[in-house]
Amino acid sequence: MIWVAFLSFFILSSPLGVTLAASPWPGPRIEDCEPKICGQTNVTYPFLLPGTQPSYCGFPSFGLSCDNNVPTIQISGQGYYIQSIFYQNQSMLVANTDYVDGSCPVAHLNVSLDLSPFNFSSANTALFFSYCPEPPPNQYRVPCASTNTSVYLGGSIMPSHINSSNSCDIVVAPVLAYPGANSSDYATLLKNGFLLDWTVPDCTACKTSGGRCGYANATQQFICICADGAYSTICASPHHPVLSSNVFSISLGCDVDNVRKPGGAKSA
Ligand SMILES: *[C@@H]1O[C@H](CO)[C@@H](O)[C@H](O)[C@H]1NC(C)=O
Ligand SMILES: *[C@@H]1O[C@H](CO)[C@@H](O)[C@H](O)[C@H]1NC(C)=O
Ligand SMILES: *[C@@H]1O[C@H](CO)[C@@H](O)[C@H](O)[C@H]1NC(C)=O
Ligand SMILES: *[C@@H]1O[C@H](CO)[C@@H](O)[C@H](O)[C@H]1NC(C)=O
Ligand SMILES: *[C@@H]1O[C@H](CO)[C@@H](O)[C@H](O)[C@H]1NC(C)=O
Ligand SMILES: *[C@@H]1O[C@H](CO)[C@@H](O)[C@H](O)[C@H]1NC(C)=O
Ligand SMILES: *[C@@H]1O[C@H](CO)[C@@H](O)[C@H](O)[C@H]1NC(C)=O
Ligand SMILES: *[C@@H]1O[C@H](CO)[C@@H](O)[C@H](O)[C@H]1NC(C)=O
Repeated sequence: MIWVAFLSFFILSSPLGVTLAASPWPGPRIEDCEPKICGQTNVTYPFLLPGTQPSYCGFPSFGLSCDNNVPTIQISGQGYYIQSIFYQNQSMLVANTDYVDGSCPVAHLNVSLDLSPFNFSSANTALFFSYCPEPPPNQYRVPCASTNTSVYLGGSIMPSHINSSNSCDIVVAPVLAYPGANSSDYATLLKNGFLLDWTVPDCTACKTSGGRCGYANATQQFICICADGAYSTICASPHHPVLSSNVFSISLGCDVDNVRKPGGAKSA
């Protein structure tokens, strides 16, 4: 309690911090992290819908927007429609919004190889786009493109697998090839998307114990949010050290409207 008061004082730099610690804010509330539906997709930990849920309901970088009932995520500055989320094996099928919305989907930019905290699933295949003065043999010529664009399905998206060429610009896009797919199916493949997986802590044990999973920004750690507060692994495991303090409310930032405020005090 003494160090909580100290922390409060330290962060708020005002006597208010001490007041808050004397009647601590209870921390994250389980009812604030109910799963949401966006179109056909269940949105729950580690994903969240910022603006309709407090930031503690999911991990950073897992915030989705739900535009026209389509869940969309920003990764490395690029928008992706989420086609499916597979919570059971921690993966999702995403498609670049440009390819889905475009009338002639071709890749002009390499996909970023750093999609942290996501990783390319090994189930993906590479789709190579070549922009060449002379179309390479054995490649499918993209009919709708204005410049000479050809496409080739197969291989890995990793740079070491890409044949360099002096005369061609080569761009690679990941796709999830279905049985029988070939290069001429490039547009469907781009629109169907590719698989990403993630490695943030699994929620099964917390859920089984009656909790909902979340994230404490103040400590950058997983939390299990239960009816009586936040715990570090499952409900009734040792309490998370800082979560009954107002350090947590500070970390909520712009989500203050969604959380209970202590004694009418303004957070942040
Ligand atoms: C969402 O998840 C809940 C509980 O996990 C389940 O009952 C429901 O059927 C799911 N809805 C969809 C659209 O998947
Ligand atoms: C996860 O499960 C779904 C549905 O069974 C499957 O389509 C997908 O390929 C799996 N993801 C990975 C990374 O294996
Ligand atoms: C992605 O995969 C690489 C190796 O396959 C691994 O070293 C890295 O930690 C993974 N990153 C994430 C965010 O899972
Ligand atoms: C496109 O390819 C044809 C050969 O198929 C070639 O004659 C033409 O110069 C190429 N155009 C451009 C802009 O590279
Ligand atoms: C795409 O990546 C490959 C492999 O790293 C590279 O050879 C190529 O020049 C890149 N293309 C563009 C347009 O940046
Ligand atoms: C790269 O070169 C290898 C060997 O020449 C060939 O088998 C492969 O199909 C080529 N890949 C592409 C994308 O052209
Ligand atoms: C590619 O698949 C299409 C059907 O999607 C088929 O009509 C075409 O013959 C196939 N091309 C090759 C080279 O196998
Ligand atoms: C999380 O904490 C970092 C500093 O640790 C801060 O910059 C960021 O604004 C916080 N995010 C939220 C949503 O409170």
